[in-house]
Amino acid sequence: MKFNTTKSGIKFSELGFGAMNLPNDAIDSQYILDQAVDLGITYIDTADLYQKGQNEKNIGHFIKQSKKRDQITLASKVGNRFNMVNDDVQWDPSKAHIKQSIHESLKRLETDYLDLYMLHGGTIEDQMDETIETFENLKKEGLIRAYGISSIRPNVIDYYLKHSQIDTIMMQFNFIDNRPTDLIDAIQSENVKILARGPLMKGLLTDQSEAVLNKKFREGTLGLTYDTIKEGVQIAQQIAPLQQAVYQYLSSYDVASIVNGASTVEQLKANVRAYEQMKDDPIETDALNQMIHAFKSIQYEDHLV
Ligand SMILES: NC(=O)c1ccc[n+]([C@@H]2O[C@H](COP(=O)([O-])OP(=O)(O)OC[C@H]3O[C@@H](n4cnc5c(N)ncnc54)[C@H](OP(=O)(O)O)[C@@H]3O)[C@@H](O)[C@H]2O)c1
Repeated sequence: MKFNTTKSGIKFSELGFGAMNLPNDAIDSQYILDQAVDLGITYIDTADLYQKGQNEKNIGHFIKQSKKRDQITLASKVGNRFNMVNDDVQWDPSKAHIKQSIHESLKRLETDYLDLYMLHGGTIEDQMDETIETFENLKKEGLIRAYGISSIRPNVIDYYLKHSQIDTIMMQFNFIDNRPTDLIDAIQSENVKILARGPLMKGLLTDQSEAVLNKKFREGTLGLTYDTIKEGVQIAQQIAPLQQAVYQYLSSYDVASIVNGASTVEQLKANVRAYEQMKDDPIETDALNQMIHAFKSIQYEDHLV
């Protein structure tokens, strides 16, 4: 496993574990997380919102049982005020909400610090300076080691790049959602690294592509039709294995981690295998470029700078 270090010295395994789709049950989650760490993954990504705190509690259970806190780079996210009774979620990036939420997350996660705390979205109308100051203060207090944002809004990303000391930007990034390529230069020039979420496009960019396409992408996505996506996948998969190729594509950029989700141990093992294959036997540059070009190049269309 390769490790990447951000400007605050936070070390990320290049293949990370996105915990959003972990099972609800703490014991089942612990089983998957144990295997992930045994397979060399040290970055675990969660959010207070996932399963309304239950996801953090399950990770907390794993941390307590495994006694592996010091081996893990742990991130959570904040900014959504959720109601435990109904499904109401309200955006709240205020100082008061963040200062309260960090203590709730730490308690659920059974730890006294986070390696990375991310703003879970955000709009250009937010009081962004207040949010930035709050993250800076949490850093000074030792409750977090670094902060970042999760955003697909170019105007918000631009503001944080210019006005904060973020270590990372999390954004969906893969062959199909290739919108981040337009922002790469701006991100790299501020010495910020990308956390590439959704690398497999919900399983579409694996050897299960046909089944996933028919199950999850009947209506298309990101302005692309089912047929356009199908054509790209079919062309690319004739050149080299999709999953290995998408990891190679992402690791060619300045990523901190490729944040892969898995809902079963079988998926997790297949993902680590494809990552290792990519490291041991990389696809030739020409072939990889042909795969990249099998997919339509798309751009962010809203919330522009
Ligand atoms: N706004 C945000 O901040 C935000 C938003 C989304 C995600 N995230 C983070 O990013 C992480 C990853 O996102 P994601 O879950 O969309 O990423 P992903 O890695 O593209 O998709 C994960 C899903 O793909 C399927 N899958 C995984 N490995 C597979 C394999 N080997 N073969 C076939 N299918 C496979 C599984 O779906 P099934 O369970 O259906 O089988 C799994 O739940 C999340 O866990 C979360 O931590 C952050």
